[in-house]
Amino acid sequence: MSVTKRNEADVGYVEIDNPPVNAIGQSVRQGLLEAVRWAEELHLTRVILSGKGRAFAAGADAREFDQAPLEPHLPDVLNAIDESFVPWIAAIDGVALGGGAEVAMACRMRIMSPGSQIGLPEVTLGVIPGAGGTQRLPRLVGLAKALDMISLGKPLTAAQALATKLTHTVEDHPLEEAYMVNTEELGCIVPTWELPAPEHDASLITQARATIAKKSPQQIAPVQAIDVIEAGLSIPFHEALPIERAAFLELKTGDQARALRHIFFAERAAKMPDSIKAETVELDHIAVVGGGTMGAGIAYALLNAGLRATILETDADGVARAKTNVEALISAGLKRGLITEERAQGHRDRFVASTDYAQAGDAMLAIEAAFESMDVKKDVFAKLVDALPKDAILASNTSYLDINELAATLSDPSRVVGLHFFAPAHIMKLLEIVRGAQTSDTALATGFALGKKLRKIPVLAGVCDGFIGNRILARYREAADTVFMDGSTPWEVDEAMEMFGYAMGPYEAQDLSGLDIAHANRRRQDATRDPNRRYIPIADRMVELGKLGRKTGAGWYRYPGGNGKVDDPIVADLAIEESHLAKRDRTDYKAEEIKERLLLAMINEAADILDEGIAQNARDIDLVTVFGYGFPRWRGGLMHYADTLGAQAMVTRLRELSQEDPVAWKVSPLLERCADSGTKLADARPRS
Ligand code: 3HC
Repeated sequence: MSVTKRNEADVGYVEIDNPPVNAIGQSVRQGLLEAVRWAEELHLTRVILSGKGRAFAAGADAREFDQAPLEPHLPDVLNAIDESFVPWIAAIDGVALGGGAEVAMACRMRIMSPGSQIGLPEVTLGVIPGAGGTQRLPRLVGLAKALDMISLGKPLTAAQALATKLTHTVEDHPLEEAYMVNTEELGCIVPTWELPAPEHDASLITQARATIAKKSPQQIAPVQAIDVIEAGLSIPFHEALPIERAAFLELKTGDQARALRHIFFAERAAKMPDSIKAETVELDHIAVVGGGTMGAGIAYALLNAGLRATILETDADGVARAKTNVEALISAGLKRGLITEERAQGHRDRFVASTDYAQAGDAMLAIEAAFESMDVKKDVFAKLVDALPKDAILASNTSYLDINELAATLSDPSRVVGLHFFAPAHIMKLLEIVRGAQTSDTALATGFALGKKLRKIPVLAGVCDGFIGNRILARYREAADTVFMDGSTPWEVDEAMEMFGYAMGPYEAQDLSGLDIAHANRRRQDATRDPNRRYIPIADRMVELGKLGRKTGAGWYRYPGGNGKVDDPIVADLAIEESHLAKRDRTDYKAEEIKERLLLAMINEAADILDEGIAQNARDIDLVTVFGYGFPRWRGGLMHYADTLGAQAMVTRLRELSQEDPVAWKVSPLLERCADSGTKLADARPRS
């Protein structure tokens, strides 16, 4: 039973009961509609609507969005509630989101508990409110607030909802308060649909359009939401509803909504694989080796999760730096209101920085975030083996180095696992959990348990140069450098990728992170690089010139006065010089071709990563690219996007490109197989 109902004398209690979050699917809609008729037949004086468990209602059931809509439709159910002669009161204890908020707005009154939230986040799923939200919300909170809430999709806390009059009161026990509401007062509340729409205000609409053009460029749902709100201002409520519904239904099956739904469910499905069956070690006290930006970020994330963190450093300066770095993060959290003074003190109490490894003697997990050198890391692991319990898990945060080589120095290599965080470690949600040849299930399970505690998105990866994310990134940069050397400028490359949806292109991004890391990697790879692979030397020339990015004042771009980027003619000259020396003809690539080359290069590499079993499935690659590398979420991640192109079309184009360079553009066998069998990458699995 998805909706239960009972009455005590003339008061009806209707409860949505659809675990875990009361998503409004067909059976809930049916149950609510029956409850309206039931309350009318019994001539109840009020119906108090609540949600069982932790949510009032999390919105329409997004799992139904791929199917044709089934009756009764939500707008009809909500009209029945809104128009009923029995007044409904929404007693909200938990989240009321999307369709859940729309149900609440169709009620005569809303009472929220202090920890509750209410909002219309539909745009984050690529749709707009489809059950009257675009019409009821402006009537309740005014045009400015409604435009803001719907086009940006950010929910309100109970206190904010009270300030905007979206809730009538905030009470600890909404159900009891709903019972206490005076019947006459309740009878005087005008049904929401009968309220007048706010006045049209062109400046507010223009401002809302400008805001979303900046915050959600290229996304169509927020634009449509504003259009539909505007359309409803000058026509009756019941004429506006079909306009809203038509837009909702069209968006729901569009590419952007499919992509955003895919990522929404992929994020929630990112859990430890069922095949890993082991207990985790105790995660109370964790050692972090190295107190630089990464180590301090990891330690701060641990403290935020209520754990004890001990940073181990090599000398007193290192300890002082670690303390300063962690304190800076605590202060920033305080300043932004993310943590209270009390929590900040708790963080300080649970944090130690020391050169003495014995301080971490009871830690069952250590995460080394030391300098990216195999020798340094081997040395750190030897010290950890001596100081920590013999069954403690030893994790490396290396981005590129071979976990197996590191593990081989231990008498028990099964203790070693890769835990690859992304900077800033307390903010970025991705966590690559790297399985070495000998890594035990306990070590992996511990990695996943930590990911859960830190509210990260954990993705299992195998050992290779760069694991999943950095291996794709290396190919992305190689493809970018190739079009640059052969005819484009960094500006043109970046612009092409921004037009695709990245917040910044590969060159601007590298200027932020610094050119030296990739340079060190290239030197490490010199010994093993395929001699037949074309080598693009421009980045090396940049490093020779000391142009390491923003930290040296200039990189691929110049940043006069520390402000926005400007083209650097020296950089363009380097490319012309190198292509002249290599006797290459330069080509004037159009943005479309630049984008195509960079994306195909990444997709082809990602297909190999999947084929080799470095990634378990395409969905994990989508999560890595979206949550670690800025791939536009509304495109659903690299592999989801690739499936919109189709394997056959990609293979055909890659074969053309391989005429130009058979090594760099060698078609992935997995892509060939998908093209031959008509399989989507989403369904492809590693070769056995
Ligand atoms: N539809 C279907 N399933 C949903 C769902 C929804 N709207 N919201 C959550 N779920 C599922 C999740 O997939 C997850 O399933 P799983 O256990 O099988 O992995 C389960 O519910 C629990 O979700 P979370 O893990 O996210 O639980 P949290 O407690 O962390 O968060 C939440 C709860 C804040 C409600 C969060 O799930 C959320 O933000 N949900 C989406 C809210 C939303 O966008 N609503 C709008 C939907 S569109 C709509 O309503 C259209 C309407 O206008 C017609």
